[in-house]
Amino acid sequence: MIDLTGKTAIVTGAARGLGFAIASKLASLNAHVVITDVNEEGASSAVDDIINHGFNAEYMLADVSDYNSADSLVEKVVKKHGRLDILVNNAGINLDSMLHKLEPDNWQKVIDVNLTGVYNMMKPAAIHMRQEESGRIINISSLSWLGNVGQANYAAAKAGVVGLTKTASKELGKKNVTVNAICPGFIDTDMTRGVPDHVWDLMVSKISMGKAGKPEDVANCIAFLASEQAGYITGEVINVGGGMIL
Ligand code: NAI
Repeated sequence: MIDLTGKTAIVTGAARGLGFAIASKLASLNAHVVITDVNEEGASSAVDDIINHGFNAEYMLADVSDYNSADSLVEKVVKKHGRLDILVNNAGINLDSMLHKLEPDNWQKVIDVNLTGVYNMMKPAAIHMRQEESGRIINISSLSWLGNVGQANYAAAKAGVVGLTKTASKELGKKNVTVNAICPGFIDTDMTRGVPDHVWDLMVSKISMGKAGKPEDVANCIAFLASEQAGYITGEVINVGGGMIL
């Protein structure tokens, strides 16, 4: 049984989708979860939902693409709760287009949130976790890091997350902090609901299990990586994709 009693977790981008499922799962295992998002209405109703299920959560607004916003969020959580045990970097956006049509602005926005946002959260968390000689960092990359048509910006950012994860795992290993990345395949969320029907069908056709994943499929894997039981797993990139091959 996984038990996260007494642990404090931050989940970024948890107002909806995968982040919300991850926050709900960690809370259901008795962690105190801090939901971080730019969407206040969504974050507030996510917290209400978790509390209505009898678990513990609060929200703190932060834009992960802004270093000062991310840094002060981590500081606030550590000051308020005296600890930060689990950081899940989930916040992400996609602004897809073919490389020859990809505007510099859309390149930069995706890099800023999906890659720099992960660094912005990890640096202050690493300072704290090194001191405590304990911690779990779980970064949400994507199977797209292997390359996916129409996602040059997104794939580059998600590949960057893999490099960042592996480097941090080497730096923090002796401090008893594990750092892993999860690569979801094609999961049914608002983000993927935005794709045209023919793209949905194309993506599902690449999945051995013949269906899109559920946010809970990703959340279950994260709960394990956040647990005591996963204490000797670090620097790994774990696919949660139903056998999806890009
Ligand atoms: P989503 O679009 O449903 O949710 C993303 C959340 O992140 C939203 O609540 C949004 O407000 C928040 N967010 C966006 N920018 C932010 C910022 N600058 N600071 C703080 N919060 C911000 O997306 P979904 O599908 O739940 O994806 C979550 C993560 O999983 C993303 O990193 C995505 O790239 C990744 N992913 C998703 C897959 C899928 O099939 N849905 C597949 C592979 C990876």
